[in-house]
Amino acid sequence: MIRERILVIGASGQIGVELTLALRKIYGNNNVVASDLREENELLKGTGPYVSLDVMNKEMLHVQVIRQSITQIYLLAAILSATGEKNPNLAWNLNMQGLLNVLDIAREEKIYKVYWPSSIAVFGPTSPKKNCPQQTIIEPITVYGISKYAGEFWCNYYHQRFGVDVRSIRYPGLISYKSAPGGGTTDYSVEIFHDALEEKKYTCFLQENTYLPMMYMPDAIRGTIELMEAPASKITVRHSYNLSGMSFSPKELAGEIKKHIPEFHIDYKPDYRQAIADSWPESIDDSVARRDWGWKNEFDLPGMTADMLENLGVAS
Ligand code: NAD
Ligand code: SER
Repeated sequence: MIRERILVIGASGQIGVELTLALRKIYGNNNVVASDLREENELLKGTGPYVSLDVMNKEMLHVQVIRQSITQIYLLAAILSATGEKNPNLAWNLNMQGLLNVLDIAREEKIYKVYWPSSIAVFGPTSPKKNCPQQTIIEPITVYGISKYAGEFWCNYYHQRFGVDVRSIRYPGLISYKSAPGGGTTDYSVEIFHDALEEKKYTCFLQENTYLPMMYMPDAIRGTIELMEAPASKITVRHSYNLSGMSFSPKELAGEIKKHIPEFHIDYKPDYRQAIADSWPESIDDSVARRDWGWKNEFDLPGMTADMLENLGVAS
């Protein structure tokens, strides 16, 4: 039996914090090494080992993998959709080279498993808007989407050619209360809760009827770990799995929040992120993930909203 030693790269980010804490519960605090370019997130402090690491520095990464006897890598370091449009070269370089560095080291060091997330951003305006299938027309228009789609092919390539057991999910927009989102088009769905509680009002950067696929973080963390723990024989998709939680518009989310905070008011001032959102599907068909490894979401819009408000400090 392998004694797992897990490296989480990008552990101080929106997903990294919660995923690191969840992995530490399963594999033991000292067996999950958190790493990031930025300082250790407050919620991680005292819960396990942390190393400062730049995924672009392949040599340093390789040294850490050997020194820490790493058996699994979760690569979360990336530049997301909105920030990526401001600096396309930086987004392409980090999102591609970071992944290639990890895949190369995984191959050389016989790393047991690698996790790398893709995104609904792989889909573009020519993909089906509703219940977007696993395999369909994929023509992304953002540098982030292009990098994720290319990354999916690299994952499949390293699996087919070198046998690297790399697994991936196309996350929808993720909603969380523990850590802040890091520059995506779906970030409004987290900001709105903080402003609703603090200001009783929110100005949304997307139009009121912009439907997008979303997921509550507890579902995303559970799904990620379930995929990673599934027997390899069940994994038929080595590019990246579609995963669905819920779909809603800013207007619907605001309506749900108003049920808890009646005085809450929303207005709309769409910016450059509207075009990105308009290029993505409204909802996702995740039947292949359900069939292959038994994926099932738990949270819907009312459940997520009540839980967010409760955890952010309002008795709902
Ligand atoms: P985030 O921006 O919150 O976190 C990324 C972390 O990576 C940050 O802490 C950052 O400091 C770190 N990082 C950046 N450059 C680095 C480098 N060179 N070396 C080491 N660390 C570096 O992002 P997130 O929301 O946690 O996303 C994690 C992954 O999930 C990304 O691949 C992202 O594309 C994907 N994803 C996220 C969402 C979402 O809604 N959050 C949706 C779809 C896909
Ligand atoms: N939440 C992410 C973003 O908006 C989707 O990958 O960029």
